[in-house]
Amino acid sequence: MKKIIDLITEEAAKAFKECGHEEKYGMISVSNRPDLCEYQCNGAMAAAKAYKKAPIMIANEVVEKLKEHKMFEMVEAVMPGFINMKLDMEFLKEYMNEMLASENYGCEKAEQAKTIMIDYGGPNVAKPLHVGHLRSAIIGESIKRMGRFMGHKVIGDVHLGDWGLQMGLIITELKKRQPDLVYFDESFQGEYPKDAPFTISELEEIYPAASAYSKEHPEYKEEAMQATYLLQHGSRGYQALWNHILEISVNDLKKNYEKLNVEFDLWKKESDAQPYIPEMVQYMKDNGYAYLSDGALVVDVKEESDTKEIPPCMILKSDGASLYNTTDLATIVERMKLFDPDEIIYVVDKRQELYFEQVFRCARKTKLVKENTGLRFLGFGTMNGKDGKPFKTRAGGVMRLEHLIGEINEEMYQKITQNHEVEPEEAKNTAQIVGLSAIKYGDLSNQASKDYVFDIDRFTSFEGNTGPYILYTIVRIKSILNKYMEQGGKVENIKAVKFDSSNESVKSLLLETARFNGVIENAFAEIAPHKVCCYIYNLANTFNHFYHETKILGEEEEETKESYIALLVLTEKVLECCIDVLGFEAAERM
Ligand code: ARG
Repeated sequence: MKKIIDLITEEAAKAFKECGHEEKYGMISVSNRPDLCEYQCNGAMAAAKAYKKAPIMIANEVVEKLKEHKMFEMVEAVMPGFINMKLDMEFLKEYMNEMLASENYGCEKAEQAKTIMIDYGGPNVAKPLHVGHLRSAIIGESIKRMGRFMGHKVIGDVHLGDWGLQMGLIITELKKRQPDLVYFDESFQGEYPKDAPFTISELEEIYPAASAYSKEHPEYKEEAMQATYLLQHGSRGYQALWNHILEISVNDLKKNYEKLNVEFDLWKKESDAQPYIPEMVQYMKDNGYAYLSDGALVVDVKEESDTKEIPPCMILKSDGASLYNTTDLATIVERMKLFDPDEIIYVVDKRQELYFEQVFRCARKTKLVKENTGLRFLGFGTMNGKDGKPFKTRAGGVMRLEHLIGEINEEMYQKITQNHEVEPEEAKNTAQIVGLSAIKYGDLSNQASKDYVFDIDRFTSFEGNTGPYILYTIVRIKSILNKYMEQGGKVENIKAVKFDSSNESVKSLLLETARFNGVIENAFAEIAPHKVCCYIYNLANTFNHFYHETKILGEEEEETKESYIALLVLTEKVLECCIDVLGFEAAERM
């Protein structure tokens, strides 16, 4: 379905043309004076300059043409040359019925489906998932869902960090604690045990311990580096250990992501890109892209237009070791080879922005990607506590994701059981659903690149710009629809027949639901989930206003009542689509 704003623009463009002006002046925008009109056109002002004519004269001529069209209830020219418009209720009603009957409620699939890869999540093996990874998972998941909703082929890749010193540290620490393990016996030729010699909790304790110890003890760090080297160069025992670490970590990560309603298509790891490195390095050398600088292999990526210094992209260190860069570039090679994406979007902490700038430039310059392959960085800000510092536990430690989720769910549980009699089981279940909406909406409603304050009290509130408020609104609509059905009404294939054209709250709701297709399209184009949040907050407010103003089930005229129900059905569907795209769902009751 065409967007309403495009339908109006078409008419306005036609009118300008009929008056002898260029069509481009028919640009329409949503009114910034909702008290005066719903949409507006400022084109007469620009046209006036071009045609050396008074803007109001042009506006008046155009208005005369537009008046003929039945989509408008009102079109008027106002000084100095604005064109203000209000849409006709009948037109909006038809638009609404068309939305109800269309597959995605009026949101058309992209004309050209693209293959888009999203690199998000980015947890590191053996390190506990902490709140820093929360944002990447939440934002990335939403972008993936939006892309799919728009009809693209979207592949989400968790891009697990499994290749760094952390592996060597864990191995070294294990060796210190359990030197007799068979993995450390170099002469061992047999098969290694199937089960890991540690649990996930042990693993999560081992890494921080080893990391802290290595900072104080250089010889220990040296050993860890050596272990990393051996692991990466074929030590059987270390590789067996590494496989255990991976398996245990991945199982645990999957459980955590499941709780967040986050699902990856690919569980690729940094190590998967390693086999692509030698050939890539050779290619960069052969084609004169890479050169030696102080023993290290680098590619220059600075450009003339740079206002700040962009250092060369280092491909190999002077000792021949590869780096985070190298892995990311090799991953690009791998992705191009296996999936040939039109675009790769990276959802990563914004502190890595400069780093990705280098990587992208290097990939372009060395032609690892096609000329038209998009490489996009979506950097997110820090999640802070109320004190404005990065979010911590009460004791001041790094907050683990599962504890955070636990805390929110507990808070939700209290709220849900406070005022109602609910079975504990049901309350627990609802608390989880609503809790997730609190976390995700709290995050997504902020522009990704901004830091934000994670405020449990505010996020879990049923009032204001929060996830629970949105869910509450959906539940309210559902309960009215349920009552309607209990009274014998039907909601399938429902259509609006009649609205009172003077009913402002109906009209606002019609206008708001009709914006759906435009909002999703734009939010995806700008990879900006916060725009969807902003939209559903307005939509929920508009609905609640309508709800307070209107007797819905009590409406006596059958045709009007049915039309209200149709409007409720559409509002509910649109809200549900939006929260699905944001990555959470509504409860049945609250
Ligand atoms: N594991 C990294 C970290 O924790 C994030 C990975 C981001 N993705 C990438 N392709 N580099 O910082």
